[in-house]
Amino acid sequence: MNKRKVALVTGANRGIGLEIARQLAEHEFHVLLGARSLEAAQDATEALRANALQASSLHVDLNDKATLISTADEVERLFGHLDCLVNNASICLDAGRVSKGSMLEIFRDTYETNVFGLFTLTEIMLPNLKKSCAANVVNMSSAVGSLAIWGNKELLRAHNLRPTFAYCSSKTAVNALTVLMAEAYAEFGIKVNAACPGLVSTRMNGYSGARTPEEGARIAVKLATLPADGPTGGFYNDEGRLPW
Ligand SMILES: NC(=O)c1ccc[n+]([C@@H]2O[C@H](COP(=O)([O-])OP(=O)(O)OC[C@H]3O[C@@H](n4cnc5c(N)ncnc54)[C@H](OP(=O)(O)O)[C@@H]3O)[C@@H](O)[C@H]2O)c1
Repeated sequence: MNKRKVALVTGANRGIGLEIARQLAEHEFHVLLGARSLEAAQDATEALRANALQASSLHVDLNDKATLISTADEVERLFGHLDCLVNNASICLDAGRVSKGSMLEIFRDTYETNVFGLFTLTEIMLPNLKKSCAANVVNMSSAVGSLAIWGNKELLRAHNLRPTFAYCSSKTAVNALTVLMAEAYAEFGIKVNAACPGLVSTRMNGYSGARTPEEGARIAVKLATLPADGPTGGFYNDEGRLPW
């Protein structure tokens, strides 16, 4: 299609994902906006194109493997490679009070999207990522996934976190996958890092966050645009490295 770098962002129809897509397009990427509703992806894509940014939409539902396979086929057909994958899409089902009976279901649904979906998409995109000169994978995580923070009263006070079993532990699993993928993909020149956007005002938290999506997107964009010799296997927010 053209010689621009190509980035795929999941959950790009709203919130931090849409802002990551916008900022990457401003960094001269052709951005593929993935969303589980193709219509929502198309609306978001139109908004970027209206500002002369290069963007396309794809149907990417982390709970529907067929959409992940056809996304990889489409990237291969249109571009022949992928320079950057931002695994942004995620759900949080247990922020409010949850009855014991529904907890197991919530755990399964949360892990299906946040962990299994993220891992499956990344593995399916691997042949396209290998064809980049220096691909970056960014996993959107959260300080709530840090065992080091939960295990340290002082850090916990500073981060002001509230425990939710399924969502928090799913982000711990995302952190574990980040380290393992970074090691496994290093031989292909693919870097993998985890990003924490801070508490951002989005639908996920009922728009209660103090930070804007623009601010929340910055660290993911920084990690998505790391040079070939940049760091891999780390966990970062705007201020620097976070403890696992
Ligand atoms: N907001 C915060 O304060 C905060 C803090 C720490 C980390 N994070 C992380 O930042 C990332 C973005 O969160 P956000 O705050 O922007 O949340 P959001 O506004 O709720 O957006 C979540 C996105 O994920 C998509 N999604 C959910 N399930 C999906 C599936 N099965 N397949 C594909 N897409 C799916 C949603 O699509 P639909 O529109 O179709 O629902 C939406 O586009 C998440 O990984 C979140 O865990 C957020």
